[in-house]
Amino acid sequence: SHYGEMETLIPIINRLQEVFLTVGAEIIQLPQIVVVGSQSSGKSSVLESLVGRDFLPRGSGIVTRRPLVLQLVNVPPLEERRKQDNGNGAKHNSQNNYPGIKAEEWGTFLHCKNQIFTDFSEIQKEIEEETDRSTNHKGISSEPIYLKIYSPNVVSLTLVDLPGITKVPVGDQPEDIETQVQDMILSYISNPNSLILCVSPANSDLATSDALKLAREVDPDGRRTLLVVSKLDLMDAGTDALEVLLGRIIPVRLGIIGVVNRSQHDLNTQKSLADSCKDEQVFLQRYYPSLASRCGSRYLARTLSRLLMHHIRDCLPELKTRVTVLSAQYQSRLNSYGQPVEDHSATLLQIVTKFASDYCNTIEGTARHIQTSELCGGARICY
Ligand code: GDP
Ligand code: NA
Ligand code: MG
Repeated sequence: SHYGEMETLIPIINRLQEVFLTVGAEIIQLPQIVVVGSQSSGKSSVLESLVGRDFLPRGSGIVTRRPLVLQLVNVPPLEERRKQDNGNGAKHNSQNNYPGIKAEEWGTFLHCKNQIFTDFSEIQKEIEEETDRSTNHKGISSEPIYLKIYSPNVVSLTLVDLPGITKVPVGDQPEDIETQVQDMILSYISNPNSLILCVSPANSDLATSDALKLAREVDPDGRRTLLVVSKLDLMDAGTDALEVLLGRIIPVRLGIIGVVNRSQHDLNTQKSLADSCKDEQVFLQRYYPSLASRCGSRYLARTLSRLLMHHIRDCLPELKTRVTVLSAQYQSRLNSYGQPVEDHSATLLQIVTKFASDYCNTIEGTARHIQTSELCGGARICY
């Protein structure tokens, strides 16, 4: 699939989660990715291109009116879950945490716990209906909608879709809509564990980007802010975004990535994400040949994946220490058993030693993988 960049993370993270569980450490907390930008800048479109599925309400005007906290959960493929269900015949031995679910991918909402959504257009509809249930005509609410998407094709990670920054109240919006939205955004991006994905359309002046302004407030050094320049296809004839993309207008430490997502017409005619991604590449090759390899949804996914790898790398020393301490504890406990259980303890010691060395190998393997992928990746990231 063309989302392969994020997919390389899946086995690594799954393996590490296992290690963390085994050594009793807290599950590795990946940064949550939060999109920030003005209304209709393309935030929901960018998030969808990262997940690779159509399920977010999008469109002109204020569509996203409540925060959507989207938790992606990696699960084994259906076939594997089926085998686990059938394995050993005994139900209580089942390894399948999702028995009875006969879908490869599905979603659940916190507000309707017992309902399983396997049709992604139903998920989209439920987000729209739940938004309407709690807000008046075009009003906004800071009450988040919690959605979990389970799939073998996602990295376990949290993404947050937010209402856009807006200046002039419409419909039933309060006079202070601008401050309300800004406060809502700030509450998410001030979390030091948030990666801020600023989305700014190519056809508006970057210098006036409210998204970047807000990001600066909470991340003045730009350590966790990435800029996505959307709508490259909508620039006036005779203009291009080259200077912006090269960081000559406003430099952004983690990088500036231009993308072309689906237009309203594309949405109306149900153009697929895969086709959109192909056309995006063609567009970039044609109009930005020198930057094509560093732009596009695919490169964005790769960049995020690299940032997540860096985060994992930063967590590894802690994990290694824990494994070493644990193994030392086992050893001294075994030693204290003394002569009578020597044979038994020798076996145990072997198991523990093997365990420790296996896991240290996993950790080092991961570190190596991260280094390799850094060598292959672009040099724009300085983290
Ligand atoms: P949001 O309000 O920031 O979440 O923006 P949406 O993702 O809902 O998109 C707003 C509108 O802009 C929709 O009609 C999209 O089809 C359109 N749009 C988003 N990105 C692009 C793009 O790169 N090119 C074009 N032509 N249209 C886009
Ligand atoms: Na919109
Ligand atoms: Mg939106």
